[in-house]
Amino acid sequence: MEKRELLHQGKVKSVWATPDPGLCIIEFSDAITAGDGAKKAVLPGKGALLNKISALLFTRLAEAGIANHFVALAGSAAMLARRARLLPLEVVVRNRTAGSICRRLGLEPNLEIVPPLVEFFWKNDRLHDPLLTREHIALLQLATPQQCDAMASRALAVNRVLKEIFAAAGLDLVDFKLEFGVAGDELLLIDEISPDTCRLWRAGAAESLDKDRFRNDSGDVLEGYREVLKRLEEAQCRN
Ligand code: TMP
Ligand code: ASP
Repeated sequence: MEKRELLHQGKVKSVWATPDPGLCIIEFSDAITAGDGAKKAVLPGKGALLNKISALLFTRLAEAGIANHFVALAGSAAMLARRARLLPLEVVVRNRTAGSICRRLGLEPNLEIVPPLVEFFWKNDRLHDPLLTREHIALLQLATPQQCDAMASRALAVNRVLKEIFAAAGLDLVDFKLEFGVAGDELLLIDEISPDTCRLWRAGAAESLDKDRFRNDSGDVLEGYREVLKRLEEAQCRN
């Protein structure tokens, strides 16, 4: 399906209209950013890798009964997706401590979190994506209480499915971020699910194969992303 006008230009992805008003094309660039865009680089081939990984995970989630916006691949670094109005929230699920929860609460990294924790952040670069309570979300009118409940339970369902998919690929899912949109009266899982938006460690070892390599200058980012894709594809073949 052909691209029409640009609907949204993000830091690393762009969203294009198509002749079908219910569908859009999401294009993954090779850019990578961290710290709300303060740190930037271009990694040739990254967009295609994330497109493939996202498509694979969205397909597996749909097979597990979790509706999402993915429709089909639309080229090496693009996907056709259902169009939705973005809720400006990042919904994070944590299975182990890492990243901002350690800084915020003074916790050691790599502690198990049982049951998994769901957090909401405001997608607002100017304010550095602050953590929000449901009362803040209501105050700011970013989503209704019913939408918050639905996002939290959907995020936990996604966690159950993703944890199994990654475990079969020899990877521990430490935490991840989801985004949701509204399409008609449906709450829809959108955006991407990839090593840019998940922390993935080699099973049993606190060794990142994800964007933490970029955030912390701790290794070859593309090599990590390639390994994630290879492991997912191999695990899928064994199934
Ligand atoms: P955090 O520990 O920095 O809060 O991140 C939690 C998870 O969310 C981690 O897997 C990275 C992901 N994430 C994004 O995908 N985008 C973001 O802007 C942030 C802050 C985190
Ligand atoms: N702050 C986010 C991260 O570090 C993304 C970004 O700033 O582009 O994952």
